[in-house]
Amino acid sequence: MNLREIFNSAGETLMRTGSPDAQLEAEVLIRHVLRIDRATFFRDLEQPVTDCDRERLDDLVNRRLNREPLNYITGLREFYGLDFEVSDSVLIPRQETELLVDTVISLARSRPKCEMKICDIGTGSGAIAVSVAVNLPSAEVMAIDISQRALDIADANRRMHGVYNRVSLRRGNLLEPVDWKPEIIVSNPPYIRRSDLSLLQPEIQYEPRVALDGGPDGLEVIRGLLRQSSDKVSSTGAILFEIDSSQKDSARMLSREYFPNSEISILDDLSGNSRAILIEKFDL
Ligand SMILES: C[S@@+](CC[C@H](N)C(=O)[O-])C[C@H]1O[C@@H](n2cnc3c(N)ncnc32)[C@H](O)[C@@H]1O
Repeated sequence: MNLREIFNSAGETLMRTGSPDAQLEAEVLIRHVLRIDRATFFRDLEQPVTDCDRERLDDLVNRRLNREPLNYITGLREFYGLDFEVSDSVLIPRQETELLVDTVISLARSRPKCEMKICDIGTGSGAIAVSVAVNLPSAEVMAIDISQRALDIADANRRMHGVYNRVSLRRGNLLEPVDWKPEIIVSNPPYIRRSDLSLLQPEIQYEPRVALDGGPDGLEVIRGLLRQSSDKVSSTGAILFEIDSSQKDSARMLSREYFPNSEISILDDLSGNSRAILIEKFDL
């Protein structure tokens, strides 16, 4: 069989997952097996494919049919224009989280001080910490996670993007490892209500539960983050965290409890959904 035939057949098989991107996923898996770029893929469509490569592709297609996320199969995910290593030890970074990176970058650029100290709480793959460090060459980022396996992936990513010296990694519960006052605290915490976890699509069941489970009301980790931040954040700093749009009122009220005199804004993502809370102008 040639590459075009393999491509068509893998695309048809992958439609069984219900993915609207079945054909694109087939292309990604084939390029992953053959280690070729897009241009080579389309140039070589009439070339034969070896039995060995076909067997490897069948194996990956079967994993995808079992609803394993494509990014866990390829081990890569693009975020903020950068490639990140991912595995089932970390959440696959979502496009909507890029809002947090955009906001940290503009907050940092609007401040007179060049050297910014930033904390990324629940760093996972390091997507936020590394993207911020790459785009803010004077910033120092401490990236914290409760999971050592996640920190191992974040370590690979900070090295891959040349920010090893400015992204430090700590294992711990939320801000406990921080013994100084960061200017910006950013976090994409687990915020899914525990009772909703089993209802999520099969792909999400492969992601670490500790990355998703926000406790009975989805706000348990956010509550801890706000409580700990009130002692740690610099008085001229900012706290920024991701939410689900359904949580915007409850997360705003919770933020008001911990920071009664601060400015609290809700930020929308590109789809117009409420996606993050920003707390500034502290009266600590
Ligand atoms: C939703 S994931 C976010 C990962 C990454 N920042 C991103 O945006 O792709 C949440 C992360 O928080 C970590 N986490 C959960 N509870 C934590 C806690 N109490 N302290 C520190 N990290 C925690 C999880 O291990 C997971 O990596």
